[in-house]
Amino acid sequence: MRNVKASPTNTPHWQKLAKLHAQYQSQSIEQLNDLSANGGQCIDAAGLSVDLSRNFVNQVIVDELVALAKTQGMPEKINQLIAGEEVNNTEARAAHHTALRLPDSAQTRADVGETQQKIKALADNLRNKSWRGSNDTEITDVVNIGIGGSDLGPRMTCNALSSMTTDGPKVHFVANIDPRDLETVLQGLKPASTLILISSKSFNTTETLENALSARRWLLEAIPQSDLSKHVIAVSSNVEKAVAFGVDADNILPMWDWVGGRYSLWSAIGLPIAIAIGYEGFRELLDGAHAMDEHFATAPVENNLPCLLALLEVWYVNFCNAHSSAVLPYSHELGLFPDYLQQLTMESNGKQVHKDGSPVLSRTCPTIWGSAGTIGQHSFHQLLHQGTELIPVDFILPLHSHSDEHSKQAHLVANCLAQSKALTEGKSEASATQELAGSGLSDAAIAELASHKASPGNRPNTIIAMDKLTPSNLGALVALYEHKVYAASVVWDINAFDQWGVELGKQLSTPIFAALTGDDSASTDKTTAFWIKRFTQQ
Ligand code: F6P
Repeated sequence: MRNVKASPTNTPHWQKLAKLHAQYQSQSIEQLNDLSANGGQCIDAAGLSVDLSRNFVNQVIVDELVALAKTQGMPEKINQLIAGEEVNNTEARAAHHTALRLPDSAQTRADVGETQQKIKALADNLRNKSWRGSNDTEITDVVNIGIGGSDLGPRMTCNALSSMTTDGPKVHFVANIDPRDLETVLQGLKPASTLILISSKSFNTTETLENALSARRWLLEAIPQSDLSKHVIAVSSNVEKAVAFGVDADNILPMWDWVGGRYSLWSAIGLPIAIAIGYEGFRELLDGAHAMDEHFATAPVENNLPCLLALLEVWYVNFCNAHSSAVLPYSHELGLFPDYLQQLTMESNGKQVHKDGSPVLSRTCPTIWGSAGTIGQHSFHQLLHQGTELIPVDFILPLHSHSDEHSKQAHLVANCLAQSKALTEGKSEASATQELAGSGLSDAAIAELASHKASPGNRPNTIIAMDKLTPSNLGALVALYEHKVYAASVVWDINAFDQWGVELGKQLSTPIFAALTGDDSASTDKTTAFWIKRFTQQ
């Protein structure tokens, strides 16, 4: 029997929230938001300060959202996640990424501790140059070949912590099956001083296997087969397949099915991070995430940052008609954070059925997008300010930089705060008119121009600040979003840990590839046949 009772739309809170929206929709954020009245402007946890005072909510709305979360079983479901219970029901698995960042003293999984020792040994040996390549050559470059969760997390993290990557080999990332991706990375490298790291939980992903084959061919053009084990290592839960591919069994670090790909940067998939910044930095990243886990596990829903961010998402998507949400890091080093969040959020919550398979009766995950400020200000921010869509924004703001250029950092922070203020307050037509007075324009011209210059404001935004972008603060930030995604899935009663939709494209590409490469036996549709013909006739 399908358990439609789990749908949030069947709760009294859903109807109440719809009424609250109707009641308050004509108010401005400044009129409505009374969260700072109780000193509640910023909630601090795990090194992050989250300012909710520019959201389109008041205490009454927040209380109702919190009641909705509790009715959906939020505290129990948080416990289930943290305890490693089988929260991924369609694949009969836990999603126990929080176990990967427990302190050593609390670690109960022996295999996690052992793997962390292997990560440390490998990273140390590469950084202190005791791992040598063919002909005793120093390894100067490591190329991570992986895609999705086996790429985006380590790539984003290495970029974000680039100020710490001064020692050790240079780490590169290749994900795309487009041959130009690998080719451009290998262009400047030498096989004897390069280590190829094949990252694939399944060891079954076409893009990764094809790139790994090309990289192996490239290595073998310059080094003997007998030295290959000095240049190829792998991270995978499919050890058998990795060995069959030709990776030395001693060079394979394990992964487990209880860690989802997009939640895996804390596992051996994070090896490139440990190589780039050293194992101590990697451990600090885990510790920061663990501090956020503790907050998520223990703070009451009304003060629980991941829960509150998830509830705001539900409010905006389901009651305020928002279709997308922007993430704007005011840190160039966090430029890849929106890309990372796209997989984390949309692969997790881009779902249309409840956990029991019954159809979801409301909208779920919004589109996530964004890029680093201030660059976006000179591009898409126009739409955030004056477009017709309501797009809630998260500003990510490290207050201080690793650079000594304090004045430029102050400009960066000023721009972030100004964007937040502009989105909230906007500019009235009256004040635009006043600004134009004395410009020499006629009254009619002023009136016309003022309507273009006016900005509606009332665009909700949250400032997520930290002192500096350290491994610990980054760990907390990533864990904050991981848990936000899970908390939203709890409210919507969807499975955040499977990704069946991704499979269809993979299935369909196999016969098309066969047709493109000479097998004309496969029958297909007219459009695909047209393009196959165009490709094969070249
Ligand atoms: O195609 C999507 C996906 O399944 C992601 O969930 C995963 O992170 C990625 O592919 C890579 O998978 P693997 O690590 O098994 O190669």
